[in-house]
Amino acid sequence: MFGKRTSFGGNTPAAPQPARPAPAPATPSLDRIEAYRPPAAEPARSRPDEVLDLRSPSEARRDKDYFQTKSAIFNALIDSIDLSQLATMDQQSAREEIRDIVAEIIALKSIAMSISEQEDLLEDICNDVLGYGPLEPLLARDDIADIMVNGSQKCYIEVGGKVKLTNVRFRDDAHLMNVCQRIVSQVGRRVDESSPICDARLPDGSRVNVIAPPLSIDGVTLTIRKFKKDKLTLQQLVKYGSISPEGAEVLRILGRVRANVLISGGTGSGKTTLLNCLTAFIERDERVITCEDSAELQLQQPHVVRLETRPPNLEGEGEITMRDLVRNCLRMRPERIIVGEVRGPEAFDLLQAMNTGHDGSMGTLHANSPREALSRLESMITMGGYSLPSRTIREMIVSSIDVIVQAARLRDGSRRITHISEVLGMEGDVIVTQDIFLYDVLGEDGGGNLIGRHRSTGITKPQFVERARYFNEEANLVEALEKSNTEQRELLGG
Ligand SMILES: Nc1ncnc2c1ncn2[C@@H]1O[C@H](COP(=O)(O)OP(=O)(O)OP(=O)(O)O)[C@@H](O)[C@H]1O
Ligand SMILES: [Mg+2]
Repeated sequence: MFGKRTSFGGNTPAAPQPARPAPAPATPSLDRIEAYRPPAAEPARSRPDEVLDLRSPSEARRDKDYFQTKSAIFNALIDSIDLSQLATMDQQSAREEIRDIVAEIIALKSIAMSISEQEDLLEDICNDVLGYGPLEPLLARDDIADIMVNGSQKCYIEVGGKVKLTNVRFRDDAHLMNVCQRIVSQVGRRVDESSPICDARLPDGSRVNVIAPPLSIDGVTLTIRKFKKDKLTLQQLVKYGSISPEGAEVLRILGRVRANVLISGGTGSGKTTLLNCLTAFIERDERVITCEDSAELQLQQPHVVRLETRPPNLEGEGEITMRDLVRNCLRMRPERIIVGEVRGPEAFDLLQAMNTGHDGSMGTLHANSPREALSRLESMITMGGYSLPSRTIREMIVSSIDVIVQAARLRDGSRRITHISEVLGMEGDVIVTQDIFLYDVLGEDGGGNLIGRHRSTGITKPQFVERARYFNEEANLVEALEKSNTEQRELLGG
C-alpha cells in the first residue's frame, strides 16, 4: 500500500515533540456545544406554484395609476437631472437632490398626493436611480441566500434552504438591464451583446453573475449569492442539525491538527461556509494565505493574506487565474494555503503544496461524493496538461489529502454534512478511502422534511489519530468517535 507522509510539523521534518507553543487561549473550542437536539422542524416544502409576496403594505397598494404617475415623474426627473453629476455625490446628498426635484415636479404637474404617498414614491424612485431598483428590499434581508432573476418578470429567492418564486418584478427588460449595468459598472465592466457574460461583486461582497441575450434566451438572467455578514459557525451547524456534536468535534480536530482537507459538495451545498468554519481552528500564530475567485472567507486570525483572482479586462487581457495565485502563494512563505474553490490546473499546485510542508491546507471542490471528488481532482490535473501517468497522480493525491468532507443540500432544502472520509492509501491502482462519519436519511415527516441521523462508522482510530496524538488531541478524537458509536449501538438496541 502506498504510504502517506508522516510529517505533521510544518516546513521542517517532524520531530517527536510538539513543534509549536501551547495554543493561544483565544483558539475557539467546541466545549460549549450544546447537547445534540434535533433541529427545529423547517417549514413544509413550498408548493412549486406558490408566489412569495414580498411587498410592503404600501407596495401592495400600488396600482396601474401609481406606475403611470411614477413613470411620468421619473421621465421628468431624468430630463432635469445630470446623472453623471449624481454619480459623483454621496448617497445622502444624491437622495436629497432627487427629493427636491421630485417635489418640484409634483408641484409643477399638480399631482395630488399625500405626504406618505410622496415619501413612498420618492423611495421607489431613489431605489431605481441610485440603487438596485426592485432588488433593494431583497438585498437588505440577511436571511436570503440567493437571488435569481430570470428575465424582468420572474424573480426567485432561496430562503431557509427553499427556492421560492416572489412577486418582485422589473418594469421591463430595459429596467432589468439598467440595474445589471449599474452593478457591473462598479467593477469596471459592461454587459451587452458583444460581451454577454459578466461576473461582478456588490459593494457588500455579494457574488453576481449576469448573462444577457442572445446567450440567455428569455431575457437577462441575474444571479446573486448574497454575502452573509455573520458567517455560520460550527456551533450553529450543530444547532441546525447539519452535523452532530461529535462530528463537529472531529471537524474541529481536523482543523486544529493541520490535516489537509478537501471539502466537496454541489452548488450551494455549504462548502465555503464549512471551509470558513474549519479555518476558525487555525492557530493565531500561523501565516495563512487564502486564494479565492471572490473573497468570501472571513478568517479571524491576525496573520492572513487574502488573494483574489482577476478576470480579463474588456480587451481580454490582464487575467490572473487561480493557478497564478496558488503558484505565487508558494513564494510567500505560507504555513497554510486555503483555496476557495479548486476548479482547474491549480489542483496540481495545491496538492504539491500540501505535500511539501504546507500541512493544514484546505480547499473546496464541486463533487457529489468523496469518491467523485477524488476522480474530479485527478481529471483536473490531467486536463491541466500534465502528462503524468494516472497512477502517479493518484499517489500524489493519496500522499496529500488526509480527509474529504462532503456537504450536501438535500431534497428538502436542508444542508447536511454527509461524509467525513479519510484517504488511506492505494491498493494496486485504486485509492482506498474509509468513511469515519456518515449521515443516514431514515425517512420523511408529513411536511416533506427528511429525517436522518449522523453516526460514526465504528472506526475509533482513524489514520489521522497519529496526527491528533502529535497535537494532543487523540483522547478528544477517540472520545468523540466512541461516543457517537455507542449512541448508535444504543439506538439500535445493541
Ligand atoms: N449548514 C447550513 N445550514 C443552513 N444554511 C447554510 C448551511 N451551510 C451554508 N448555508 C447557507 O447556504 C448558502 C450557500 O452556502 P455556501 O456559499 O457555503 O455554499 P457553496 O457550496 O460554497 O456554494 P457555491 O457552490 O455557489 O460556491 C449561504 O447563504 C449559507 O449561509
Ligand atoms: Mg462556495
